[in-house]
Amino acid sequence: MTSEQWVKACAASDIDREDVVRFDCGESTYAVYRTEDDGYYATDGHCTHGRFHLADGLVTGKTIECPKHNGRFDIPTGEAKRAPACVRLRTYPVRVDGGCVYIRIDGGDASTGDAT
Ligand code: FES
Repeated sequence: MTSEQWVKACAASDIDREDVVRFDCGESTYAVYRTEDDGYYATDGHCTHGRFHLADGLVTGKTIECPKHNGRFDIPTGEAKRAPACVRLRTYPVRVDGGCVYIRIDGGDASTGDAT
């Protein structure tokens, strides 16, 4: 049995289209995205290559480019798309409710549907 833990990350309007913001909760840090088609997504905040924060990166379409070495990830799935990034980013379920963005941070992976 899983216990869902949704946390409010920010207002939906806090993120411009094709942009990303940082969200910290406890000792964890996340990157929250808004894509060009108004999709909202969340991943681990740190790049899997060098732990540089992706909130300082560049969103193009549904891709985030790390600001450190220009590795790229697919935002919805977390798949690594360009070296030197080669390990997938963890993704988190997101919902928008009442103009606020919520992330489910209690385990589970948005791209695989796995729950822990
Ligand atoms: S730290 Fe992100 S690609 Fe190297």
